[in-house]
Amino acid sequence: MTATLPEQDLERHFEHVIERDQRIEPRDWMPDGYRKTLIRQVAQHAHSEIIGMQPEANWITRAPSLRRKAILLAKVQDEAGHGLYLYSAAETLGADRTDLTEKLIESRQKYSSIFNYPTLTFADVGVIGWLVDGAAICNQVPLCRSSYGPYARGMVRICKEESFHQRQGYELLMTMTRGTDAQRRMVQNATDRWWWPSLMMFGPPDDASPNTAQSMAWKVKRHTNDELRQRFVDMTAPQAEALGVTLPDPDLRWNAERGHFDFGEIDWAEFKRVVSGHGPCNAQRLAQRRRAHEDGAWVREAAAAHAAKHHSRDHWRSPT
Ligand code: 3HC
Repeated sequence: MTATLPEQDLERHFEHVIERDQRIEPRDWMPDGYRKTLIRQVAQHAHSEIIGMQPEANWITRAPSLRRKAILLAKVQDEAGHGLYLYSAAETLGADRTDLTEKLIESRQKYSSIFNYPTLTFADVGVIGWLVDGAAICNQVPLCRSSYGPYARGMVRICKEESFHQRQGYELLMTMTRGTDAQRRMVQNATDRWWWPSLMMFGPPDDASPNTAQSMAWKVKRHTNDELRQRFVDMTAPQAEALGVTLPDPDLRWNAERGHFDFGEIDWAEFKRVVSGHGPCNAQRLAQRRRAHEDGAWVREAAAAHAAKHHSRDHWRSPT
């Protein structure tokens, strides 16, 4: 719908589209706050995919077999692809990708807390697939129904690939837990380190989440942070049992009355520390991203020169 109608009619139309669970498209009128919220969330999401390549890429050259190396390589490449879809979705809202990248490397925009933890053994690759990609699926499947068309459509493909990532992680852990005692210890140790940070991925508790209420009203988000966190715990606790690993939470137990697992208190002070740049790997992750961006300058320059050359050739060839 074009912006030729008076603002109140445009606003009414926008609300109507949201109410009827239809999609807002790039050329539709939208409130400034809606556009801003989406750019913020989609950019943070894109940055997370790109920074998220680092912890696992750390193991590509040391994968224990050709098969594991090929799987890991494919997975890390998928994350790069997800970042690209998401930057493109942000561009449909008027954001500029170069500007977003600069905001990331200057720490003016966030990325997910989870990628600021180190990957110490190859079991971390399996546990990231199982827990981190598992949490990502829980959080992201509902985003396939997000009210903004390009974001929702991008998420459909991303979620299919995240499911493959989750399964490869689980399959790797099944192999390791059927292996030696040392392998089982590695899996348990990695689970102990990644469990709580995975729960933090869902964001602050609902009563401390400034964006949830408005994002739910606009159907950008379909569930609150706590709802999705609970869904993840309910899904994961039986998987841990099947794998034969213990989740590091003495308070984790089934509550028949609620029909959910109860779980212990999350260390929100740690979450705040990591989000504000003081996690174990924040400095390293950003330094590497900055370096990769600088190293890639010649590619961007060459691509721009190539595009300009073709543009001028096409210009001279086009009939007058
Ligand atoms: N890490 C870093 N920052 C976080 C965070 C986290 N885990 N959780 C919340 N925040 C930030 C928010 O961005 C917000 O910051 P801002 O207001 O300064 O911009 C602030 O903390 C308050 O949180 P809210 O709950 O109010 O924020 P949202 O309503 O945006 O909810 C969210 C947070 C649930 C992460 C939501 O933005 C979302 O669903 N985003 C899309 C999914 C996403 O970005 N996932 C990141 C992981 S990507 C991934 O997992 C890739 C895979 O390959 C594994």
